[in-house]
Amino acid sequence: MSVRRTPAWQRLEDHYAAEIKGKNLFELFSADKQRFNRFSRGKGEFLLDFSKHRITEETLTLLTNLVDQQQLGRWTEKLFSGQDVNSSEGRAALHTALRAPKSLDTVVDGKKIAEQVHANLEKMANVVERIHSGQWRGYSGKPITDVINLGVGGSDLGPLMACHALEEFRHPKAKKLNFHFVSSIDGSQLAERLKHLNQETTLFILSSKSFTTIDTLSNAAAAKCWLSEKIQSPKVLLNQHFIGCSASSEKMADFGLSEDNQLLFWDWVGGRFSLWSVIGLPIALLVGMEQFRQFLAGAHWMDNHFKNEKPDQNIPVLLALLGIWNSNFLGAKGHAVLPYDGRLKYFPAYLSQLEMESNGKSVNRQGELVDYGTCPILWGEVGPNAQHAFYQLLHQGTQPVSCDFLAPVTRYQHEPAKGTRNQLQSQQQLTLANCLAQSRVLMFGDHAMDDHAKQNRRQDQQYEGNQPSTTLLINELTPYTLGALIAAYEHKVFVQSVVWEINPFDQWGVELGKQIAKETYQAMVSEGVTFDDSSTQGLLDFVRSQQQREKQS
Ligand code: F6P
Repeated sequence: MSVRRTPAWQRLEDHYAAEIKGKNLFELFSADKQRFNRFSRGKGEFLLDFSKHRITEETLTLLTNLVDQQQLGRWTEKLFSGQDVNSSEGRAALHTALRAPKSLDTVVDGKKIAEQVHANLEKMANVVERIHSGQWRGYSGKPITDVINLGVGGSDLGPLMACHALEEFRHPKAKKLNFHFVSSIDGSQLAERLKHLNQETTLFILSSKSFTTIDTLSNAAAAKCWLSEKIQSPKVLLNQHFIGCSASSEKMADFGLSEDNQLLFWDWVGGRFSLWSVIGLPIALLVGMEQFRQFLAGAHWMDNHFKNEKPDQNIPVLLALLGIWNSNFLGAKGHAVLPYDGRLKYFPAYLSQLEMESNGKSVNRQGELVDYGTCPILWGEVGPNAQHAFYQLLHQGTQPVSCDFLAPVTRYQHEPAKGTRNQLQSQQQLTLANCLAQSRVLMFGDHAMDDHAKQNRRQDQQYEGNQPSTTLLINELTPYTLGALIAAYEHKVFVQSVVWEINPFDQWGVELGKQIAKETYQAMVSEGVTFDDSSTQGLLDFVRSQQQREKQS
């Protein structure tokens, strides 16, 4: 039976119709001075304020009944104990084991895994040390100055997002290391970077769980060509200028990487959950192993919080339930993630993959079409920048959208130059003021103004308000809190998948596109192949004729 027809879901629908429909946030706040206390939770380094949602205590009770009905506890147990929660691929999804202490072992396919996990972490630590200390040298004997991560999806977005967020925690031994992230198949990013780099001192990290992704392998081939302009010996080229991070030792070996140049993880780690594994190498190189372990420890803290707290006290569960409430019952089709901190610039893009690749599904675990909405469209941008770009739609558009406002509270405490520190600290206040102001306007609309200011406003100057948002404040952005933040969203995705009865750990929807792209490429490079649709054929004809003209000119 569809979850939509279950008692817990039906009760939520009835509750919406009887109690919430037609109520707005202004009324809810006016009627209850304790609303913030009622609907906020301080946990560890976080404060979660979800009072600006169209909910009452009863809504919360009914939502937590829904997760109980869907047996979240049983599913959580399955997730953490290494059972095959990724049913379509017959695999566990044990990203949580990558951040657990050695003493907390898990069994996968009859084998204990903690020892392997920690051994691989040690191997990664060794690579980090060799690069930091200048022992790892390029072909001419000079230490590495530039590290280029070649990867895409989870093998790019995770390390890119975390490295950008944690630049202030750069390890002293990484002072002279430059980090580059190259993902695009068209080679434009790579070509641009290579113009400014030196073969003698550049190291490529080939990040690909499958080691079959054409985007990454094409860039790797281009990198090889670039290096071979200067390096005659293929062995030297590979041993001194490439490290592979993958779940396939075999495929890395086929590429020519020796065991020493391979860092391994396992097929029970999903690509979009892989930054805790050796895919996190760029992060470890930037902040050093001690801080990388802090990053893992923060995520592990969130794992424990998620496992042990009651649903109505549980950050990931609450994030998940509010998302379900907004999208399934209040009709929000979009969800914006708005960090008020430039360091979290790539966090929305990272979450887009995490949430939409996991829960953008229309078939349940039994292979039946679902008759309810699943993941909403998630996008976002650094909040203050987005204010000057797409907030217009949030404030006055016709689409109901829910928002997550994220902001670290303290910043610039240790800024060395005093003059800059004072200025930057006041900019931090300004940023937080903007964050609080925007969620207030979204909630109250014109009610946020005093009566006088409200008078004589034209229709196009009016704000309806009543747009729900969550604010998640973080005491300080550190490797530890970033780890916990990411893990909170991972578990949010998992909880939603349990309610929607879908498998969040596969991504069959991207496979057909890959296959057809391969066939299209073959058609492009062969003569006489035609397509049975006039659009693809027309576009291909145009490409061919333009390329022919270019060649002749
Ligand atoms: O095509 C989707 C996907 O498989 C993602 O799930 C993954 O993060 C990305 O491609 C890259 O895959 P890989 O790490 O195997 O190169």
